[in-house]
Amino acid sequence: MKNKYPFPVMTVHWLTFLLVVLAYITGGDPTVHLKSGELHVFAGVSVFLLFFIRIIMISIYKKDLPHNKPMSKYQKTLFLIPVLGWFTLSGLTESYQLFGVNLPLISNSWDVEIIGETHEFLGNFFMVLIGLHALAALIHHYVLKDNVLKSMLYFKK
Ligand code: HEM
Ligand code: HEM
Repeated sequence: MKNKYPFPVMTVHWLTFLLVVLAYITGGDPTVHLKSGELHVFAGVSVFLLFFIRIIMISIYKKDLPHNKPMSKYQKTLFLIPVLGWFTLSGLTESYQLFGVNLPLISNSWDVEIIGETHEFLGNFFMVLIGLHALAALIHHYVLKDNVLKSMLYFKK
């Protein structure tokens, strides 16, 4: 067991963080808000892809992880939010271009409003989870004075 997360795991962690923040601030109907909507879908799809990359990274570096806890609540929600967003988008439009490339959509007859609201609710709820997660990391660092925050930072020894 090491003191720090391996470089690739840290990079996926902080990249996911940046993309979740981008997805959050650009949140809204991408078929109405075209420019910010494109960023929203880009950030959300990237978070979705990073979800799988993170799982692969974690299994590759299993033995080198400092705190080997399964963070299942983040994992599951990070999967579900983009999937629900994609279902919502599929119900709102027949085709959607992301930077000029057609995003595959599915045809469905579900209630877009309910799926859209669940997507929005989970997006907001997730930010609260992240806030608590970040607060916990800061408490570890400043109150408990242990290695938890440093294990996820590139430079601090
Ligand atoms: C981590 C990823 C994501 C987060 C945190 C997120 C968050 C949000 C939030 C908070 C809203 C509501 C914004 C508002 O109305 O004030 C929203 C709306 C929306 N998002 Fe996402 N989103 C993510 C990924 C995606 C993806 C990947 C897609 C599509 C492929 C998508 C499609 C949509 C659509 C269509 C709406 C409008 C919903 C409606 O008007 O009912 N989102 N998103
Ligand atoms: C979208 C935002 C975030 C998500 C989704 C997220 C998710 C995760 C996940 C899944 C892990 C377990 C390691 C891994 O699988 O990579 C982790 C660990 C960690 N995160 Fe975050 N995180 C976010 C933001 C933050 C922020 C803002 C901070 C600090 C202020 C932070 C500090 C840490 C620390 C210190 C660890 C190591 C904790 C431990 O090993 O017990 N994270 N995070």
